[in-house]
Amino acid sequence: MAGREALARHPLAIAGALITTASAVAFIALGIAVLAGLFNNPYAGLVVFVAIPVLFVLGLLLIPVGMRLQQRKLLRDPAAPTDWPVFDFRRASVRRTALLITALTAVNIVIVLLAGYGSLHWMESPTFCGQVCHTPMHPQFTAWQAASHSRVACVNCHVGEGAAGFVHAKMAGVRQLVHVMTNSVPKPIPPGGDLPPVAQTCLNCHTPGHTVPDRIRTFREFSDDETNSETTTVMQMHMGTSPKSTRSIHWHADPANRVEYVATDATRETIPYVKVTNASGQVKEYRAADTTDETIKSGTARTMDCRDCHNTIGHPISPTAEQAVDRAIAAAQVARELPFVRREGVRLVTATYASQDDAMSAIESGLRSFYQSQGGSVDQQALSRSVTGLQDVYRRNVFPSMMVSFGSYPTNRGHFTSTGCFRCHDDSHTAADGSTISAECELCHTQIETP
Ligand code: HEC
Ligand code: HEC
Ligand code: HEC
Ligand code: HEC
Ligand code: HEC
Repeated sequence: MAGREALARHPLAIAGALITTASAVAFIALGIAVLAGLFNNPYAGLVVFVAIPVLFVLGLLLIPVGMRLQQRKLLRDPAAPTDWPVFDFRRASVRRTALLITALTAVNIVIVLLAGYGSLHWMESPTFCGQVCHTPMHPQFTAWQAASHSRVACVNCHVGEGAAGFVHAKMAGVRQLVHVMTNSVPKPIPPGGDLPPVAQTCLNCHTPGHTVPDRIRTFREFSDDETNSETTTVMQMHMGTSPKSTRSIHWHADPANRVEYVATDATRETIPYVKVTNASGQVKEYRAADTTDETIKSGTARTMDCRDCHNTIGHPISPTAEQAVDRAIAAAQVARELPFVRREGVRLVTATYASQDDAMSAIESGLRSFYQSQGGSVDQQALSRSVTGLQDVYRRNVFPSMMVSFGSYPTNRGHFTSTGCFRCHDDSHTAADGSTISAECELCHTQIETP
């Protein structure tokens, strides 16, 4: 009689059993090693939580396939019994085999569940998003590490809640994987993109509707002269009310109001039409000069939310080299006491280099040779600190492999380095009653005179 053992003798079934056993052992051993933090290679997770489980399941599938093939082969043999094998549970050996198979199945289920849980968990880590998909996400991953949300995982802003959000994100992930494999990731990755509603992301942690005091902001800029002279602007940002109005900057984010707009370009730079619906349902429409119904129809409509101003919040790339160098000087990462360090710093970080590695050595030799050529003595400690500071400015903002540089991702929060607030607040978007979206400085901030 063709027993189980005979059926399992098919080479495919044997291969399956070997693959399954080997990957189960490997999964348990490597899984423990990864959890214990023995590997910090980003690809370890890919192997342990994706590749090995796939092998494991493949092996499991091969076993019944092999057995089925073997059974067919035996059936073709005229001497073989044509009926299904009979299991006689009165025999101890049959009971033992059945028990063994049940126990092994239970172990297999546990392994598959563990692997599934591990792989989901691991795929939600910034390491997966930023490092496994290394080159394409390198700019965002690097900028994120230095930003205010470095403790907020990518998925908290990029993946919506519930099964729908999960499926949506995984579908997008598959598309991106295809882009990576076919080498067709756009360079740079364009801003914008498909994000979940802010109610499922930002609003899990922030409540902009709460009354908050004004924020005091200090903007420090340095000049290209020998002493790197400083200009300081102190602004009281009207998060509460302003001298001109009882409404604040976060008026747009108040759920009681709805601000809808139409943009005619992909980066939402040009906004010819804005529509406001207030709490009592009153509607007011503003149009930029010479806007026709056709222009409005040809554009894309959107309801304003956090992203329309805080678009670069997750991973800001500095809009200009000057701003990045000024911040490094203000933070003493670049030594202000070095003559012309602002001018030289901007020159070195904006030069063209083939790669980040090339840039690191060129910035070092460039700054050192400048001070050598100036003659006289230079504070070596300040010089070394400034080299590192400028290298960091470059490393965080310029990514030749992804064609990302200063200004690749303009910020809409403000109006100096890009149009930002002035896309609408330009005093020329006019309503039927002749009123405009105001550009009056004091609506948004009051400058505090410093002695
Ligand atoms: C605090 C929220 C937040 C976090 C955390 C965050 N992002 Fe984003 N990300 C955004 C927003 C908002 C946009 C859309 C920008 C826009 O509308 O122009 C975006 C856009 C992007 C884009 C498109 C290109 C661009 O820069 O606009 C990529 C790629 C990206 N994020 C990757 C990542 C990766 C990788 C991580 C984790 C290392 C991450 N993000 C973490 C909020 C976030
Ligand atoms: C998981 C929680 C979490 C999520 C999600 C989140 N934030 Fe934050 N956010 C924080 C924390 C915590 C801080 C304070 C960070 C600090 O000051 O070090 C912060 C700070 C900020 C700040 C002030 C600091 C700055 O860089 O200007 C802004 C603005 C902000 N978040 C906007 C957003 C927006 C917009 C989103 C959605 C795209 C968002 N946050 C999503 C937790 C979160
Ligand atoms: C019209 C543009 C705009 C919109 C829309 C907007 N913000 Fe802001 N937000 C600002 C500006 C401007 C500041 C002040 C920044 C500064 O201090 O320079 C700010 C400050 C903040 C801060 C830090 C100050 C604080 O009160 O702690 C947080 C957090 C924040 N916004 C979160 C959000 C969230 C969440 C949303 C969406 C619900 C949102 N913002 C919508 C423009 C906007
Ligand atoms: C998509 C268009 C749009 C953008 C972009 C925009 N706003 Fe507004 N904002 C409006 C509209 C519309 C109003 C209400 C005008 C009205 O009906 O009086 C408004 C009102 C305001 C008010 C209250 C003014 C008052 O009269 O009380 C402040 C403050 C404000 N915005 C600040 C900002 C800041 C800061 C930014 C940039 C970070 C910004 N806005 C970007 C459309 C916009
Ligand atoms: C619709 C709101 C709004 C209006 C109107 C507005 N500003 Fe601003 N302004 C901002 C915001 C928001 C910032 C903060 C930008 C940032 O966070 O980097 C800012 C920043 C500034 C800064 C400091 C920027 C820097 O990088 O040095 C100056 C100076 C300034 N504004 C001047 C003005 C003047 C002058 C006017 C009037 C002609 C004006 N603003 C009108 C919203 C506004």
